[in-house]
Amino acid sequence: MGEVARAVSERGELLLRRRTDGALELRVNGVFVMDDAETSSEELLASAALDAVLRPARVLVGGLGLGYTVGALLTDLRVESVVVAEIEPAVVEWMRSGLVPSVLDDARVSVVVGDVRDVVLAQPVASLDGVLLDVDNGPDFLVYNENSALYESDFLGECRLRLAPGGVLTVWSSSASAALESAIRFIFGACVVRPVPVALQGRAETYYVYQGSS
Ligand SMILES: C[S@@+](CC[C@H](N)C(=O)[O-])C[C@H]1O[C@@H](n2cnc3c(N)ncnc32)[C@H](O)[C@@H]1O
Repeated sequence: MGEVARAVSERGELLLRRRTDGALELRVNGVFVMDDAETSSEELLASAALDAVLRPARVLVGGLGLGYTVGALLTDLRVESVVVAEIEPAVVEWMRSGLVPSVLDDARVSVVVGDVRDVVLAQPVASLDGVLLDVDNGPDFLVYNENSALYESDFLGECRLRLAPGGVLTVWSSSASAALESAIRFIFGACVVRPVPVALQGRAETYYVYQGSS
């Protein structure tokens, strides 16, 4: 396996590497975060959000990663602006420098290097048609422990406040989470759960997408 780039931030070590199967992989503190071999669920996160909203013009995405969710959003011409919150400066730099295929050249995209919590809180009330969260491997498999609050009712309530009527929160998870489902139901009144079958290096797995509509 070959190292493509490495960086250190206050949260730890990031590694971008080329696996022996040819896939590009992002790791944080040794933990798998994303690769470009199986991207269907990250793209489904985008299509689930797009399908759920009548007019998905203004969208906020938490977690740039390798850019598959953002890239899938941009294929929809109804999308006029995508604000991307990415906490790791290196992830943005690697995309800007071409180490990772870029989704940032589209004029509809603006990236904020920062915590998605702060980026959501900075948005005006009722200004967004969609908020998409994919910053961890899910609420039960966090990349950073501090992210646990993102799946709890206080932050979900802040997301709801920033959604326009009919706007939708969509959250990716690598495992079923009864706690997330009930927190979304508490804040939004209902929660749609979509299991996503994926093939991971020959293994059949199920990921999940959770949605609440304002
Ligand atoms: C699983 S990857 C996202 C994958 C992305 N959906 C894609 O299509 O490639 C998670 C990303 O979220 C970022 N991240 C983690 N915690 C964050 C936070 N609190 N705020 C913003 N970004 C965060 C990580 O650095 C990483 O780039």
